[in-house]
Amino acid sequence: MKKPFFVLIFLCAFCIIRAQQTPVLPLPNDIIRSTGAFDYSKEMEVKIMRGDEGTKQVNKQLLAFLSAKKVNVISSSPNTVYLNLQKEKTLTTEAYELNITPHQITITGATNAGLFYGMQTLFQLMNADTSKQIACMQIKDAPAFAYRGMHLDVSRHFFGPDVIKQYLDVMGKLKLNYFHWHLTDDQGWRMESKKYPRLTEKGAWRTEKDGSRHGGYYTQEEIKEIVQYAKERFITIIPEIDIPGHSSAIIAAYPEFGCYPDSIQVPNTFGIKENILCPSDATFRFLADILEETTNLFPGRYFHIGGDEVPTKQWEQSERGKTYAAAHNLKPDAFHALFIERMQETLSSKNKDLIGWGEILETSPAKEITIMSWRNTKAGTEAAEKGHRVIMTPRTFCYFDYPQDWDDEKKGIYMTYLPLDKAYSFNPLDKIKSKEAQKKIWGGQACVWTEFIEDTETLQYQIFPRIVAMSESLWTNNSGKNYADFEKRLKSQKNYFVKEKELPPVDLIRFKPKK
Ligand code: ACM
Repeated sequence: MKKPFFVLIFLCAFCIIRAQQTPVLPLPNDIIRSTGAFDYSKEMEVKIMRGDEGTKQVNKQLLAFLSAKKVNVISSSPNTVYLNLQKEKTLTTEAYELNITPHQITITGATNAGLFYGMQTLFQLMNADTSKQIACMQIKDAPAFAYRGMHLDVSRHFFGPDVIKQYLDVMGKLKLNYFHWHLTDDQGWRMESKKYPRLTEKGAWRTEKDGSRHGGYYTQEEIKEIVQYAKERFITIIPEIDIPGHSSAIIAAYPEFGCYPDSIQVPNTFGIKENILCPSDATFRFLADILEETTNLFPGRYFHIGGDEVPTKQWEQSERGKTYAAAHNLKPDAFHALFIERMQETLSSKNKDLIGWGEILETSPAKEITIMSWRNTKAGTEAAEKGHRVIMTPRTFCYFDYPQDWDDEKKGIYMTYLPLDKAYSFNPLDKIKSKEAQKKIWGGQACVWTEFIEDTETLQYQIFPRIVAMSESLWTNNSGKNYADFEKRLKSQKNYFVKEKELPPVDLIRFKPKK
């Protein structure tokens, strides 16, 4: 009878040691401690044990980190850090092993992504340590979910390439691997198009209520640079061109793709707009051209076409809508499905996979389509049961534009608030009962809508520290998560995730959850 009691005590003691001695975020999934420490107070050597061209890039980042930390890296030392790209590839795609012994640290991965993640863990161990001694341990780690995403809306407020790079920096440090870039919406179009220049000449700018102008866009060269920057951090960018709703900026630039001939302004107010794209040969040609340009810029497999919040009033009431419906023997409420179908055809001909917001499930889309469930987890659960791949981003857990505290000044604008402990409790598999459906949950994502986020300080204020909680919800197995332990580790990595000179230092535990 006493045995389970002792086992429990042993497990608790093990958990405490593990929590105290592993200041890493997200928490690695398997840590075995041993005695001794790797001492790099005098110097160390860095070597690629086995690798390829990509490993050299990872190694460059390792050397840059050590140089910033003022570690003396020399060509021959008894204390060596090795990067080891596995030949036999027994580890899974993003897994790594980090083995720390008194004179040798070895990071092993079957891919360079694995090596990169092992290196991030090492960086955090070194960052939290002031004695230049890293305790010996063996970490065997792999993510709980393959999709670990962050979204950013750059339409409601524009953020330049440098801010995007900082965002990607933070994501890389937290082992987040998909950046969902919301490039278009009613309030601004943000991607240079060579074929449709008015999209940025007109569609990227709006006049605010006080008469000032707000806007901006990324040139194709800037986008290529950002894609490369993301690649070096093992992040795939998913561009979103949100259609057929959320398209006022397109219609302001090219009224011929809307439902009415009148010209409109890029709106300076938020909320769901009635101006939506109207189906026509010209509109579908435009969209095919835009997909062509966009997919040429973004080499990743996935493409987001939005599909959310589509009011059908203009399809029903406009001459253009009525004419198209009569000519194609369709009811206007079938237009939404038609847009998704056409996008799906175009994308699959380019070997790309379509992602859309939860609403597109109502259009009975093809099984290959991935559903991003945002209102709650209902659409995602239903989609998974129907066999779709699903990304969970239920707003009450994942919308980082929501206030972190109910006393926040934004009270009244948002329906609820999202404190750190609630963000931490996010589990993409919650409420998914069947094993078959659970397998369809690709992962989760935090979204950052920027209607009320106007500058980088506010952006940073909104994402920290919840982004760290999100990374742990998506990387660490649910059984290994512990909020109290997470808070302690946050303290130990204070100011690690943001470069202090570029943005104000972050008080990572600024918000106390409401009791
Ligand atoms: C959304 O929040 N409209 C996806």
